[in-house]
Amino acid sequence: MKTKTIYLTFLFSTIMTYSQNNIKKWLQEMTHEEKVNLVVGMGMNISGIDNTGPTVGQTMDKVPGAAGTTFEIKRLGIPNTVLADGPAGLRILSNRPNDTKTYFATAFPVGTLLASTWNTDLVEKVGKAMGNEVKEYGVDILLAPALNIQRNALGGRNFEYYSEDPVISGNIAAAMVNGIQSNGVGTSIKHYAANNQETNRNLVNVKISERALREIYLKGFEIAVKKSNPWTVMSSYNKINGSYTSQSFNLLTTVLRDEWKYKGYVMTDWFGGNNAIEQLKAGNDLLMPGTENQKKEILEGIKNKTITELDLNKNVEKILTILLQTPSYKKYKYSNNPKLIENAKISRQAATEGMVLLQNNKETLPIKKPNQVAVFGNNAYDLISGGTGSGDVNEAYTISLIDGFKNANIKLDSDLIKKYESYKLEEKAKLPAKKFFFELSPPIPEMEIDVKLIEKNAKENDIAFISIGRNAGEFQDRKEKYDYELTPKELELISKISTEFHKENKKVIVILNIGGVIEIASWKDKADAILLAWQGGQEMGNAVIDLITGKENPSGRLAVTFPLHYQDDISSKNFPGKNTSNEEVKGFGGMSLGHNSEVQYDEDIYVGYRFFTSQKMKTCYDFGFGLSYTQFDYSNFKINKKVFKNELEVMVDVTNIGKITGKEVVQLYLSSPESKTKRPKVELIAFSKTKTLQPNEKQTIKFILNAKDLAYFNDKNFSWTIDSGKYQLKLGKSSTRFIEENNFIVKKNIQVEKVNKLY
Ligand code: BGC
Repeated sequence: MKTKTIYLTFLFSTIMTYSQNNIKKWLQEMTHEEKVNLVVGMGMNISGIDNTGPTVGQTMDKVPGAAGTTFEIKRLGIPNTVLADGPAGLRILSNRPNDTKTYFATAFPVGTLLASTWNTDLVEKVGKAMGNEVKEYGVDILLAPALNIQRNALGGRNFEYYSEDPVISGNIAAAMVNGIQSNGVGTSIKHYAANNQETNRNLVNVKISERALREIYLKGFEIAVKKSNPWTVMSSYNKINGSYTSQSFNLLTTVLRDEWKYKGYVMTDWFGGNNAIEQLKAGNDLLMPGTENQKKEILEGIKNKTITELDLNKNVEKILTILLQTPSYKKYKYSNNPKLIENAKISRQAATEGMVLLQNNKETLPIKKPNQVAVFGNNAYDLISGGTGSGDVNEAYTISLIDGFKNANIKLDSDLIKKYESYKLEEKAKLPAKKFFFELSPPIPEMEIDVKLIEKNAKENDIAFISIGRNAGEFQDRKEKYDYELTPKELELISKISTEFHKENKKVIVILNIGGVIEIASWKDKADAILLAWQGGQEMGNAVIDLITGKENPSGRLAVTFPLHYQDDISSKNFPGKNTSNEEVKGFGGMSLGHNSEVQYDEDIYVGYRFFTSQKMKTCYDFGFGLSYTQFDYSNFKINKKVFKNELEVMVDVTNIGKITGKEVVQLYLSSPESKTKRPKVELIAFSKTKTLQPNEKQTIKFILNAKDLAYFNDKNFSWTIDSGKYQLKLGKSSTRFIEENNFIVKKNIQVEKVNKLY
């Protein structure tokens, strides 16, 4: 063992010295122009604004459809590296000009679903599968995962993000990075930081306290950096407290490099920020996708000494250090044949584990061998595998709910199917042409169905399924009316079906194919069961059927709160902020960037369940909630010390006491003593998922907690601190339902880590 370690250390240091020598040599040999080329990407053809060709997020360089490419310096043997989106799978073009081969990638479930698995091993497996496609299609760095906090339900990109909680976000992101990077390709954790809305995303100034920034918005990134060492970090579009994140030395150097010891490089989000020199000096090493103007600006800067050669060398060095690890540099011969069949299976497995069973009255689910079922809702015919924008994937197929039923040999009401199919064709033809590539087409209104017909359906079928869908994506946030809330037609459909099927003593099951939170409280009593299927990737239809037939037991839990009403959430008072000027700002290529604006994060650290639990406010479904077809018992909940010094060991036994195999999510919350500094009523500090437990099978779950896990951010002396007092550790089925508690004491205030003041 020892000899192996010594050998590996020797090998590693030899490689490091070799690489450092290489980089030193390159730095000596490179001209100013070459260095500038390396820190500014190769640009992007945005002629496709008219929707005919490649467009924002797509290049036609080395790998068509990738988001960007870095420059090659042939004479020094420095190759191009290829960067492609995104969080739900590799985003490249599936078809290439004059080429009959297809280049499909697997659409995995969206981030919100992956977080709802609460299963870091599974997410790592998904990452490994994604990374295989990255590598085999000739890409070096995947622009993922995205781990911004879901601050408000209307955030247009919430589906790409994980949770309202930083501990979940950070740990799930770390698992994803570890999985992807195990292939020898890189990641870019994004968007660092506080990019929590799409409205005016390139201009908005996020006004936020240092405590909320540290405890909520940076914490996930800190966990991910420390646990997974991502090759790159992508700075965000927005400003924080007056300065662009991509131009903030404090964020990119003081926090990321000095405090967290980050070793990779930072790139901008596409066309982000407004000052190339400030960006480079702040520690934003690569400007993407890169423009000629930025190059001019930097070359001028060198001439007039607003940036020194030494500054520039730092950026170049960081890019080259990562470049040496890329498949492109290593001349990896990619196959263009990733493991699509195997990866589709992983996508399906992840989808079943992240879907959340919200309601299951009188054991409606799993369904018991029906003769025939009726499927309502446009969405059932066209499930949304993932949201739009750079987080979208060009997959070969998406299994619809109808396909899923057919694959499982469940007989469907074929007259109803015919009706929906012809209605959808007619309505689709009426849709207006898109104004820009990523524009979201308006949803097709629900088909009016006569009560008489539903009455007939209720007689002829054993069960009704209603599928409700929502889509969202880059450039626009969602709306409260008819998006967060259901449309009158959707509500009417649920009502009519519920009345008619219940008259016949038959069950109504609602499937929610959504990427973010919607209103459920007002109509949930009309359904016997509700399955929150999220946006489950290309195998989604099969995954839903796996769960409703009981082939798989639901084990997803909410990583976000579903309030009773949108307005209940305090963040709704300040979302998406207000314009500070009436003038419309234009960006690269004349694209509108919206308005200068600001948004005040008045809720401070009280985001999601931290707010609802502290205010003792009722919700529709709590953070952490989710049902199973079996039950679990918790016993032997122990902590190894009654007085905290620097570490605690926590153990609990979980036993499956039901009749069906299943997995349980173990959630550990902290309640802090009353002290001068207010803390949320509960904070999630650790979590774990059991393996598949057979009936009567038991598993011991162990957590090791260190001081930082228990600390809050003290903005009086800029340190992570634990106040003295009596603390409670609570095992929760959700953020409000606790099974057992254990106490420990902190005798004196502990200053865990002193950090820097940022603003
Ligand atoms: C998005 C990023 C993405 C980039 C490249 C931007 O519009 O915000 O998440 O990685 O485009 O496509």
